Amino acid sequence: MISIPDRRIAISISVRFASSRPDSPDALVLPVSKKGGIDAALDGLSEEVAAHLRRAAQAARFNGDTASIVEIVTDYDGEPRRVLLAGVGSGEDHGYENAGGAVAAKLLTSGEKTMIIDASSDSSTDTGSRMAYGALQRGWRLDRYRTRQKAKAKPTLRTITVVADEDEAGRWAAHEHVFAGIAFARELVTEPPNILYPKSFVERCRPLEELGVKIEVLGRDEMAELGMGALLGVAQGSVREPQLLVMRWDGTDGEQNKPLALVGKGVTFDTGGISIKPGPGMEDMKFDMGGAGAVAGAMRALAGRKAKAHVIGVCGLVENMPDGNAQRPADVVTTMSGQTVEVLNTDAEGRLVLCDAMHWVQENYRPDVMIDLATLTGAMIIALGFEHGGCFANDDGLAEQLLAAGTSSGDKLWRMPLGKAYDKLLDSPIADMKNVGPREAGSITAAQYLQRFVQDGVKWAHLDIAGMVWMKSASNLWDKGATGFGVRLLDRFVADNFES
Ligand code: BES
Ligand code: MN
Ligand code: ZN
Repeated sequence: MISIPDRRIAISISVRFASSRPDSPDALVLPVSKKGGIDAALDGLSEEVAAHLRRAAQAARFNGDTASIVEIVTDYDGEPRRVLLAGVGSGEDHGYENAGGAVAAKLLTSGEKTMIIDASSDSSTDTGSRMAYGALQRGWRLDRYRTRQKAKAKPTLRTITVVADEDEAGRWAAHEHVFAGIAFARELVTEPPNILYPKSFVERCRPLEELGVKIEVLGRDEMAELGMGALLGVAQGSVREPQLLVMRWDGTDGEQNKPLALVGKGVTFDTGGISIKPGPGMEDMKFDMGGAGAVAGAMRALAGRKAKAHVIGVCGLVENMPDGNAQRPADVVTTMSGQTVEVLNTDAEGRLVLCDAMHWVQENYRPDVMIDLATLTGAMIIALGFEHGGCFANDDGLAEQLLAAGTSSGDKLWRMPLGKAYDKLLDSPIADMKNVGPREAGSITAAQYLQRFVQDGVKWAHLDIAGMVWMKSASNLWDKGATGFGVRLLDRFVADNFES
């Protein structure tokens, strides 16, 4: 079991394993695949219970479609018991996770304390683990600030018992750590901006040290010394001191001397600065640290499962506020790379933070591969909605690896273009570049801006996840709110490409 604090905050649902179906009246969940059909799932039930389920399934026109559910309360060995059929689809990716999530949504506040997922009739490996993984994701919530919650609205589900063969508990371990990373990212994104600001973000990451992550933090003075004029320009309107948080996980005993670099935009609140945003919807900008949250969550997952890879996670943490000391549109700042930037719009602050963080990590760690994640542009949401993150890359192989990790993990990406003609749109009459282009192609010019800070030979990808870190409606794998987007993706990307 994991002992670091992220289990404490949210309701913690624990996962256990059993080799046979426990003899308790707890909710019993039976996965049903379209192939196997319902009969395969009814193995080992009494004729009465099986008949009841068959009739209920027929009445609901249940055929095993992913995340469809049939629920009955039936007389089970003389005791009333809730039994559910959970459709896992026809073997497509994520059917089990979605089914587990759908069941968790149904049972979370149902009064049931335990659900038993009996995966023993399903011969594919991982069934129980995947369902539990989906259930934990859907069951996560942050109730810390509710003091008047009605009893009926409170989560009751505490335990998931997976019935499967002996090896299943071993297969579960990796899932559990990735879930812990997702939960950590969601916590960071969900916390309000008066609680979560650059220094408190760093403090939340401290427990990662217990997992072997090395943490280094640069404050305002150190960053000034290094010449990070762009990042500091954003921070200067806020009373919160900016931080550059550096987390290092080396699971290779020094064998991979060039680490993978991950860089996250961590604007703990984005008012827009002097180019202030309109009031309605501004509250959303507490999630403007979602890129940094994904990086921290990925470090949690990788260190937790002791990934055999060397990874540096850098988070540029600032608050973007309007103030007597805030930067003005038309200010010219000098970045750590030496390039100068005319800040025409103080609301295009993410790129100003990232360019110094990216330069710093390249100077200090000479990575071959660097990936940044950022809620960078509203235009990304106009282009891709809430279905895909945008992936910009200077290397086709890297883009392919990321897109593949996106598809297999469920954090989907879509490739976006880069090109000289877009880059030209950033030329400035007074400095080396402007921080904004025209309205058109806003996500692409933002990526072009970042590319100007990528050093020769570095394979780089920029993931604009503006539409993905926060959802206004629930799905099978999350309640409305923070999704933890990027954690599963990065974990999979590292597993597939950096761990041999
Ligand atoms: N954090 C925002 C982008 C954003 C907007 C993310 C909505 C998620 C939802 C970013 O700092 C920003 O304000 N971008 C501007 C850029 C513009 C000034 C060129 C934008 O998208 O409007
Ligand atoms: Mn902004
Ligand atoms: Zn922003």
